[in-house]
Amino acid sequence: MERLIITGGNKLKGNLKIKGAKNSMLPIMAASLLNGCGKEVLLENIPNLIDMHIMKKILQFIGATVHYKNGNLRIDSGNLENYSIPDQLMGEMRSSIFLMGPLLARSGKVKVSHPGGCSIGLRPIDLHLKGLEAMGAKIWEEKGFISASAAQLKGADIYLDYPSVGATENLMMAATLAQGKTTIYNAAKEPEIVDLQNFLNAMGAVIRGAGTETVKIEGVDRLESCTYRIIPDRIVAGTYMIAAAITGGDVVFTDVIPAHLEALISKLREAGVIVESTDDTVKIANGNLKALETLRTLPYPGFPTDLQSQMMVLLSLARGESVLVESVFEARLKHAEELKKMNASIRVEGCKAYIKGIEKLYGAEVEITDLRAGAALVLAGLAAEGTTIVTGVKHIDRGYERIENDLQLLGANITRGCEENIFYLS
Ligand code: EPU
Repeated sequence: MERLIITGGNKLKGNLKIKGAKNSMLPIMAASLLNGCGKEVLLENIPNLIDMHIMKKILQFIGATVHYKNGNLRIDSGNLENYSIPDQLMGEMRSSIFLMGPLLARSGKVKVSHPGGCSIGLRPIDLHLKGLEAMGAKIWEEKGFISASAAQLKGADIYLDYPSVGATENLMMAATLAQGKTTIYNAAKEPEIVDLQNFLNAMGAVIRGAGTETVKIEGVDRLESCTYRIIPDRIVAGTYMIAAAITGGDVVFTDVIPAHLEALISKLREAGVIVESTDDTVKIANGNLKALETLRTLPYPGFPTDLQSQMMVLLSLARGESVLVESVFEARLKHAEELKKMNASIRVEGCKAYIKGIEKLYGAEVEITDLRAGAALVLAGLAAEGTTIVTGVKHIDRGYERIENDLQLLGANITRGCEENIFYLS
């Protein structure tokens, strides 16, 4: 059981380069299964994350040859042997659901276990399944498993009741090898959707419109190998930007796309943080933090739910009262309870958190329940007086490559230890 031990109070300072985006990497790894030409796909700027290793294991189980070295991932999916993904592998990562689209398109059949809910909400997959059905797939559920088959998927007009990121990605992947044209209406507009389009087009797909609410895909007979560099992780960048702001720091982030961070930049400025950006850098400097009347999470280009918990820490330290509304996931405010152990003043009612800014957070022993909640607790530890011990670190390792290394580079006092060391320390 690993823990992070943080002694707060250091102002973050310096430069930090942001690595590739987890939420681009995962669908793009799945999409590489669509390449049946026998030559490998080379993906660059791939972060070394637990989720990457889980997806790698799944692709290998399906029959692909996958190698990871120094941020480069080589995937040869010329021969696929399995179309049924074991329960245990599926259970390790919810987002493995978007293997359905590419496997169905490539092999004509797929069987996965139902991903079920998770700590941030119910997370149904009805939109994924309805879209695949509209493309002619036969889908049935049995004993917790979902199976789908289609000798040949057919292009279709699909309207999503909600702009789901995963459903848009799954359907885009399925449609690349379908017969005819598919149009996805009310599609998600996240930068990761655009990245997936660019990757699929680099493999020979014909897709237009990603980044808008209508994505059009013309089916092709086959896809080829390519070399592709994934976009920087806007959520990791955003997390560290908030860390710099709450510690009164002064940090320049490089290899970022500020346009992907517009909502955050705008809200940080409204909260008194000094933000300057160029085409590929963002600089954060200290300001006097002040409350936000309302901060509401929304699909892109709205404020990202994946930065909500980190902003809760900032608002806890801002002068005045803020209301934070989580509108994307129904159970994503659990970190409030942990932050309260550190002296935060937060009242949660349904999907709203009422936050009263306080002078100081104090170090405490806190537990991580999900990836972004974990990042928020680390941030709280950086700003708090005293020592914070964060348990459940494996959640953070799903989305941040050795978070303590990045933060140490910026001057934070943070180390990773195991239970015995903690006992010794105390
Ligand atoms: N939804 C449905 N039916 C569906 C699909 C989604 O009702 O068939 C609902 C969900 O329950 C949720 C909302 O739609 O309330 C949004 O879900 P979406 O499908 O957009 O999210 P996702 O694809 O499951 C991705 C990211 C999440 C991120 C969300 C929203 C990946 C691998 N995951 O999830 O990332 O929060 O989009 O931006 O891309 C994270 O990185 O910490 C993370 C949770």
